Amino acid sequence: MHIGILTGGGDCPGLNAVIRAVTLALVGQGAAKVTGIERGFHGLLIRRSRTLTPESVVDILAEGGTILGTHNSCDPFRFEGRDQSEQALAYAKELGLDALVVIGGDGTMSIAHRFAHRGLPMVGVPKTIDNDLPATDRTFGFDSAVAVVSEALDRIATTARSHQRVMIVETMGRYAGWIALEGGLAGGADVILLPELPFSVEAVAAHARRREAAGLHTLICIAEGARAEGEGLTVRERIAGSPDPLRLGGVSAWLQQRLQPLVQSEVRSTLLGHTQRGGTPTAFDRILATRFGWHAAELVLKGEFGRMVALQGDTIVSHSIDAIAGHTRPVPADDPLLQVARGTGVMLGT
Ligand code: F6P
Repeated sequence: MHIGILTGGGDCPGLNAVIRAVTLALVGQGAAKVTGIERGFHGLLIRRSRTLTPESVVDILAEGGTILGTHNSCDPFRFEGRDQSEQALAYAKELGLDALVVIGGDGTMSIAHRFAHRGLPMVGVPKTIDNDLPATDRTFGFDSAVAVVSEALDRIATTARSHQRVMIVETMGRYAGWIALEGGLAGGADVILLPELPFSVEAVAAHARRREAAGLHTLICIAEGARAEGEGLTVRERIAGSPDPLRLGGVSAWLQQRLQPLVQSEVRSTLLGHTQRGGTPTAFDRILATRFGWHAAELVLKGEFGRMVALQGDTIVSHSIDAIAGHTRPVPADDPLLQVARGTGVMLGT
């Protein structure tokens, strides 16, 4: 059996841990040959691949990013203005691939799903720091991103406290608020603003003024996809041809400008950006990624294609990709963490 493996979309801590686990489980046990496709689906078009062996993955468990490289705007079904999927399938056939293990988010899963319908079976592994994929309680990479946000808030609180400032920290997460919610709670934010709950600038200012009156600073954790009532998303860039063309960013600076005239304290903002995606995965993410990789290899060996591995409670399960591709998972209105946040005095924007 010959299996291809690729990483699609943004890089993410734990990708290498999955590549390692799949390679060790399939090649290490002598069950299959594994070829890494480089730069995501783009590698199928530019014919870039390499053989993976237990030796080639020996030191990558703790390494951030992906040794295979990735691409976040290559959909072979509509790349550079035309459908190049035939070319991609021809390269897979030439390599002799029986199936693909695809590590990615919703965009990558949707593309893999379409290839599966064209005769290239797949098994999916859910990746994204955003934690916004349906059917899995956690994606690997999320825990590492939350750890970065939590540490950043700790550090920024030092200045907030010393100068009695209002400090705003902006997280990633696209249209889901998981990173801001968990990172904000872990870092002791006083205000957490999520895409799922449009906020009132005046209500946030009033909260900061109440804290000022009590001699306190205010720490605000805002997701890049959060927006004030009646306002649109803060879009940094549009990438033509990408499965998700909008790049968000800058809402913290937007909020800083609007809050400053409404409070006494100095208001400052920090955009954490790619610091949340870089560096070594946490121990939790290394273990989750290794479990996902091993279970993906098991699905391959059992011939159970068209499925994505997932974490449900403490158990690794798998779901049909049909029900998942193209869907996302925002923070639900009844999420228990929202209740905990409100119950412990965190302001959620209204
Ligand atoms: O989906 C992961 C993610 O890091 C989002 O949180 C963020 O909006 C986006 O990717 C940024 O992508 P890029 O690195 O292409 O700017």
